[in-house]
Amino acid sequence: MSRIVVLDQFTANQIAAGEVVERPASAVKELVENSLDAGATEITVEITAGGLSEITVRDNGWGMDEEDARLALLRHATSKIRGAEDLFRITTLGFRGEALPSIAAVSKLTLKTRPAGSDRGTHLEVEGGQVLSCRPAALAPGTIVQVRDLFYNTPARKKHLKSAGTEGGAVGDALSRLALARPEASIRFIHNRREIFATPGTGKLLEALAAVMGMETARQMLPVEDISRDWLAIRGYAGRPVLHRSNRRQIIVLVNGRYVYSSLVALAVQEAYHTLLPAGRHPVAVISLQVDPELLDVNVHPAKLQVRLAREREVAGAVTRAVREALISTSLVIPGMPAGEAYAGRPPGLPSSGHRGDTRRAVQPGQGEGATIPPLFPAALPPAGSVEDFLPPESPVSPGQCRERDRYVKKDMAAAPEIDWPPAGQPCGDGLLAEDLPGYSCPVCRDGREGETAHDAPVSGESVSTFPPLHYLGQLPPTYLLAAGPGGLYMVDQHAAHERILYEKYLSGMAAGGLSSQMLLLPVNVFLSHREATLLAEKREFLTSLGFVLDFFSGDTVVVRGVPLDFPPGEEESYLRDILAYLGEPGRSPSREDLLHHLAARTACRAAVKAGALLSEAAALALLEQLAQAQNPYTCPHGRPAVILLSYQELAQRFKR
Ligand SMILES: Nc1ncnc2c1ncn2[C@@H]1O[C@H](COP(=O)(O)OP(=O)(O)O)[C@@H](O)[C@H]1O
Ligand SMILES: [Mg+2]
Repeated sequence: MSRIVVLDQFTANQIAAGEVVERPASAVKELVENSLDAGATEITVEITAGGLSEITVRDNGWGMDEEDARLALLRHATSKIRGAEDLFRITTLGFRGEALPSIAAVSKLTLKTRPAGSDRGTHLEVEGGQVLSCRPAALAPGTIVQVRDLFYNTPARKKHLKSAGTEGGAVGDALSRLALARPEASIRFIHNRREIFATPGTGKLLEALAAVMGMETARQMLPVEDISRDWLAIRGYAGRPVLHRSNRRQIIVLVNGRYVYSSLVALAVQEAYHTLLPAGRHPVAVISLQVDPELLDVNVHPAKLQVRLAREREVAGAVTRAVREALISTSLVIPGMPAGEAYAGRPPGLPSSGHRGDTRRAVQPGQGEGATIPPLFPAALPPAGSVEDFLPPESPVSPGQCRERDRYVKKDMAAAPEIDWPPAGQPCGDGLLAEDLPGYSCPVCRDGREGETAHDAPVSGESVSTFPPLHYLGQLPPTYLLAAGPGGLYMVDQHAAHERILYEKYLSGMAAGGLSSQMLLLPVNVFLSHREATLLAEKREFLTSLGFVLDFFSGDTVVVRGVPLDFPPGEEESYLRDILAYLGEPGRSPSREDLLHHLAARTACRAAVKAGALLSEAAALALLEQLAQAQNPYTCPHGRPAVILLSYQELAQRFKR
């Protein structure tokens, strides 16, 4: 047996470097964290070749005197904690005293630093952890750390690095998280002499977000806030559903000013977007949590990226509610209007008597031809309004009002977001093809991909959404209803809209103990395999609560005697087979919630008015009216838009006005 020896500092630093400094991005993160901990308000990070050849971090923090500068390079030398008891009160980003010696161990490092109040600075040259020289230096108060040839003496590690472009991208990601975590500091990032971003350091998260994610993204963010608890404050921004991305990396979670990987909180954010996003897509959000430091253990991971959070489940639940609240309290019509300016009750010039979701044309139920959605008619329709109610303030245009119009258009233009349509091939593709008609059903259900979609069990106690009042204009075949509303022309996809209405109705009906049925004059017999029959027998309760009346008859034959109220005739057998195919997929054992969502969504898709169906005016009005009453009128249950807005600004641009 060999004897145990204590490793020398140099070896220990190399080992620590393996944990703390994996790649240029981790070195940059550590250095900028040090700058922030030193109270810096201005930090410039300059890298060349992805940080592989050079990284320079300059700050205007409080700097170090010569003695501290030398000490800083020793392992476990820190000014941030004094003992173990401090580990549970950490308010700084660093505390392990490992970063500087670790980086110095695997690079050629220059440290120049001058404390505020001193007229002299210190210049240290270190190579592979050995101090080569120390001399006085002239510099402004603050610190400059320059790291050259990272991993020059650890070739094995160097081999694992990616291209300069990828490493540079990772540096940018790490820096943008820091910039979002600390909007009060101005952080500037330069790669190969080109400025990538610079945050203004105003302390405003939205401004930092605009700097790192771009103006268009920032315009699509909705404020999130819940400060009702004394141990937890939730603040941040959640993107409108149009901003969806292919992965969860843009759900940024900050805890006490520190970026952390928290899959639980990220999932909690995602949960709030139930059915608002297309299948497999993820939202953009920056959620900043302030918790009592005693509830937080940051000493879990060498790179301090993971934290242990007490009451994590409570936090996650609160985050879901806060984000959901932000989403439902704003109009989510695509393209959205900016937060704050979002339709806040009334468009310019709309009389105050209009109520939410007012489809302003008086018609009687049953009017017009071809009403294909009979149960939609509301008991009472609101009084007739006029289309003028929705015009921008300059209409009718008089010469003096032209300037006014310009202002309106410009203001709107500033708000005009880019629509981030899901890529082609996504479920519920927009632009239906003629061959899809008239028997068109939702492609998501048709493809059987809808099971992957997040679902929205209604969030109890939700306030109603702010759907704009619409003035129905007419139907654009095959599937769009056109309406005037605040800001421009609204186009509603009749199938998606009706699907949404029915989905919510089914879901709440099932939750309330069952929907009523419509008995069939001629019961339909469906012959099932033994396996199908067993599955059906197991899940019969769910189908019954949807309004299906089923009887088993001689072994594996099921008799459908009744269907949900809106169910289209002739679809009973294919519907049942479809559901059974879903239930019978190998490895599928849906939770009760999943099953409810799935059944409600599938039934809604079957029962919803088809694209291509001609709607009478009364039916169209009823559809709009009921859509306005929906908890989430903006998307179908699979997350595709139910309504989009062609703004006056866009119209004016297209008409070159
Ligand atoms: N940019 C800086 N400005 C002022 N002091 C710094 C700076 N960078 C490092 N230091 C000092 O060096 C010490 C060691 O830094 P580091 O190795 O990152 O450990 P930690 O941040 O965990 O304390 C810090 O505690 C701090 O006192
Ligand atoms: Mg540090």
